[in-house]
Amino acid sequence: MLEQLKGLHAQALEELSRIDNPRELELWRVRYLGKKSSLTQILRSLAALPLEERREVGAQANEIKRALESSLEEKGKLLQEALLISPRESQRLDVTLPGRPLPTGRLHPTTQTLKGICDVFQNMGFQVIEGPDVEWDYYNFEALNIPQHHPARDMFATLWIDASMGEKARLLRTHTSPMQIRLMEMERPPIRAIVPGRAYRYEATDATHESMFYQVEGLAVDKGITLADLKGTLFEFCRCIFGEERKVRFRCDYFPFVEPGVEVAIGCLACNGTGCRLCGYSGWLEILGAGMVHPDVLARVDINPKVYSGFAFGLGVERIPMLRYGIDDIRLFYSNDLRFLRQF
Ligand code: PHE
Repeated sequence: MLEQLKGLHAQALEELSRIDNPRELELWRVRYLGKKSSLTQILRSLAALPLEERREVGAQANEIKRALESSLEEKGKLLQEALLISPRESQRLDVTLPGRPLPTGRLHPTTQTLKGICDVFQNMGFQVIEGPDVEWDYYNFEALNIPQHHPARDMFATLWIDASMGEKARLLRTHTSPMQIRLMEMERPPIRAIVPGRAYRYEATDATHESMFYQVEGLAVDKGITLADLKGTLFEFCRCIFGEERKVRFRCDYFPFVEPGVEVAIGCLACNGTGCRLCGYSGWLEILGAGMVHPDVLARVDINPKVYSGFAFGLGVERIPMLRYGIDDIRLFYSNDLRFLRQF
């Protein structure tokens, strides 16, 4: 009997030491101190024992019972403390740790270039206006002296929205020039505005052609505007964007909506004019088309060409960072490759 009690005590303590939550502790209490526990049964059966033995076993059993009860209480306290402390430990905020860096975005190289271009012209007093990407045939062609079947339509491979013929056909604008007409319809001279925006061409894409790209259109209409004003404005622009020393060249070119038409080129950025692959060994890089607004275009929007004159220009935006950073494929701009975009 005494041996049994000792064994029981040892076993109970051993199990207790491995308990780490209140639920198990309660099961342990029932197992060793509950009504059906061996200890309780031993205490109940004492009456049947001879007096001598009853005293000895009874004393021992009661002692073990008290010992187990106080162990139980102690363990309960320990568990309670652990429960209170542990969440605080694990959720503790170490304010001395360095913060987690947030990934920062940046402006797309096209956006950066557009901003730079707009800054230059805004400083010269041009206002910035945007127009629709989906245009009427009338604005994109007709009003710009490019009627149906005019060979100049071949200059612009067009993405049509609907197939109906005539002025009411819709298309994705092939250049930003339709905004010349809209601007002159909206406002009377003096007009000085630039129009940044997308243009679309139905073309197979390659290193130098995208079906969507950006242009900035410029328009100035007032009394007494001459080709010299156009020249001065674009020279200043080229110097601001490509540096004071950059050579700028004006040559005749043809666009149906300007007369005369010019093409502007700058000295090659790669070879400085001596000739290389980038400039096709000519030493020059063409960057924009321009000219004096055609008198018929002015007349069409009820601006008297005998009183007013104006100049217009259109430049390709992507070409500028391509030349400046030596990017040899325009498709990189809109293929969303972060390895490319993160460099700017
Ligand atoms: N719109 C012409 C183009 O995209 C460029 C241009 C604009 C030429 C204005 C002259 C005047 O090719």
